[in-house]
Parts: sequence; C-alpha cells; structure tokens
Amino acid sequence: MPLDKSTHTEIFTALDPAPRLLMGPGPVNAYPSALQAMATPMLGQFDPQFTGYMNEVMVLYRQIFQTQNRWTLLVNGTARAGIEACLTSMITPGDVVLVLNFGRFGHLLKEISERCGGRVVTIETEWGTVFEADAVRDAIKRHRPRIVATVHGDTSTTMAQPLAEIGAACREFDALFYVDATATLGGMPVEVDGWQLDAVTSGLQKCMSGPPGSSPITFNDRVADLVTSRKHIEEGIRPSGYVAAPGQRIQSNYFDLAMLMDYWGPDRLNHHTESTSMLYAARECARVVLGEGLDHTFARHQLASAGLRAGLQAMGLKLYGDEKNRMDNVTGVYIPDGVDADRLRTELLVDFGIEIGTSFGALHGVIWRIGTMGYVCQKTNILRCIASLDAVLRRNGYGAPAGAGIDAVYGAYDGK
Ligand SMILES: Cc1ncc(COP(=O)(O)O)c(C=O)c1O
Repeated sequence: MPLDKSTHTEIFTALDPAPRLLMGPGPVNAYPSALQAMATPMLGQFDPQFTGYMNEVMVLYRQIFQTQNRWTLLVNGTARAGIEACLTSMITPGDVVLVLNFGRFGHLLKEISERCGGRVVTIETEWGTVFEADAVRDAIKRHRPRIVATVHGDTSTTMAQPLAEIGAACREFDALFYVDATATLGGMPVEVDGWQLDAVTSGLQKCMSGPPGSSPITFNDRVADLVTSRKHIEEGIRPSGYVAAPGQRIQSNYFDLAMLMDYWGPDRLNHHTESTSMLYAARECARVVLGEGLDHTFARHQLASAGLRAGLQAMGLKLYGDEKNRMDNVTGVYIPDGVDADRLRTELLVDFGIEIGTSFGALHGVIWRIGTMGYVCQKTNILRCIASLDAVLRRNGYGAPAGAGIDAVYGAYDGK
C-alpha cells in the first residue's frame, strides 16, 4: 500500500532536527567542514582521484596515530567494525587472549574475542580504576596469551589505562597487543609506536568529531605477517597463480584484514565498495585535527575538561573515579541525592538543547557522563553546559551556590 502523503505528513517533511549541543560520551557535534566534505561528489572507487584520497587518508592517520605503520586505513562501519576486523583477523580459534577488563567495553572485547574462537582469560579491576602495569605483566607471565586486548579510554567508567609499560610487557613475552582507542584518539595522546601497540582501532564520532560510520585503524608488521599467513583471497577475484596461505582462513569476509590490505595497497584488489562520503569525512577530520596540531588539540580537551570539572565541583557535585587516571574528554559526575536523573537529562535536552550521557550497568542512575570531545571543546560550550545544568538542578530541588559553577569555569579559562 503506498503511503498517503496527507496522513503521513511528518514522513514527507524534510529533515530539520532541532540544534543540539552533544555533550555525552559520543557521538558529538561534527566539525562543520567534515559534514560539508560529505556533500562532495561521488567518485568511482578505482578512480585515480579516489585512490589518491585513500592514500592521503593513510598518510594523515599515521600522524594521528603517531605511527610509521604502513597499514593505517579505514574500516567501513562504526568503531566496533574496526575492533571486529582486528580481533577476527588476529585471533586464530584456540588462541589464548588476555582481556584487561575495566568497564563495559572490556566486556565487549571479551565477547568479540570469544566469538572469534579465542580461549579468553580476563583480569578485572573495580570500575572507576585501571590496572597497575605489574598486575598485567604477572597475568601475561601466568597465561602466556597470544594476544592481549584492552580499551585505552573506557567511556563507561571515564578511565584511561596507561599503556606504555603493558606494551613493553607484551613484547617481553611475545604477545600481540591490541588496543581500542575509540574514545581517546584525537583527544589524548595515543602513541602507537612509542608505546609498542601492535594494533589500534578507533571511531570518528568522538574526539575526531566526525559522524559515526568509519573506523580508522593501524597495525604493524607483526600483525600484518600474522594476517598474511592466514590470507585466503575470495574465489571470484583471485589473481592467476594464486596459492592460499597455510594459516586458517579468517572467519569474516568483510573484516578480513588480509583482503583489506590488498584493497588499500598497490594491488587495489577489489573487496567491498569503500564508503565514499565517510572517507571524505574521515579525511577532513584528520586534516582539521592536524591543522590545529595534535598538542594543541590535546590541550584544548584538557582545558575543557578542567573547566567543566571545576564548574561541577564548585556547584557542590562530586566527580567519579580515580582522579589520576581520568580521561581528558569525558567526566563522570555523581547524581545528587533526591534528583530524578532521567527527568533532569530530559529537561536539559528539551529546554536547553544539551545532551549529556546516562550510564551503564551498576552506574546507571548513579553518575552522569559529560563529554568534552573534539569540536565541542570550546569555552562557550562549557559555560552553556554548566549554566544550564545549574538551572535544571535548581528546578529539581538541588540548589548549588549561586553563580559558583560559572565563576569556576571562567576561572579555569582565565588567562588561557
Ligand atoms: C571505548 C569504546 N569502544 C567501542 C565503542 C563502540 O563504538 P561504536 O558504537 O562506534 O561501534 C565505544 C562507543 O561508545 C567506546 O566508547
């Protein structure tokens, strides 16, 4: 039955979303130029202009990931597409995988590793804390994993796991080190080579300030060699004289890094159709971030978080989690007693156009998570957020000292 336009007027009205300031843990507001880049005309995937853009993306993201890795490319899909591509290509069924679990996304790494047939062991630490390097080294020594997997910054707990010493321990015991840097790339240092990270994946919709749907990843030759040893090119596109590699075929076709290497490399062997508009957006996000300069971008994130945290504390609110390991781009704050957390979030959204995040699992109803990521990290936004939060808290019976939050934000920004 065709839709009747007179009774389905909403569906036949052009999109016109109300403006929102996205201060949850991602997605966040995209750089305007990233959205404009997406409106750039289509190109064929093997047009030399387009393959040129693919090569440029590889160059740009090497800088973003602070790596020399040749294999630095995009996986089509949100951040978990990059996670699945790495884990499914790196884990041969039966491999021991050690997952460092300190939040919701550690659980995700565990689950995906299990689906890949890994024999998964986990170590856990209380939410709101991270692992001491010695504890991880001991676990590596005990379990002798083929792969160690961790999240860098887990948005569910707002904690960032220091990685350099774990990277060294992985090399010492010849384990491959996989890191999910979805929530930190572009917002805090992610020193892929410096910290000896073998494979790292991310997303666009957090500190890179792009739309969700593209996952920048990087991996070194240790991973490339492993993946190549499992390379089985799909039947319809095998070059003449092709001989399959001896290793077990990677279980996913779409996320097969060996075939992605052939697609992104000079062979340009056909695989999927690269998401043209997402590649444009990813290129633009990296161009903007590098244009600003990584150090400057990181400092902007730190300042925005410092301003936000100062404002929250001046309002008498308590911050969540181990202070010295907080991410620079998302803040957990305890919901004051007696406040209806969901109602307040709704008022913030509807009355002020500001979105902040709720929480998962045991933290639901206990903390809100407020993101300061990418394009959002600007003084005006931090002031708006604190002023609006102050207003809705007051309406809901929580009286913060008048003006204290705003004064504290100004204080953090004064002279910067
Ligand atoms: C640390 C981390 N890893 C993975 C993901 C999953 O990302 P996506 O929803 O883009 O697949 C998220 C999303 O919030 C995240 O914060």
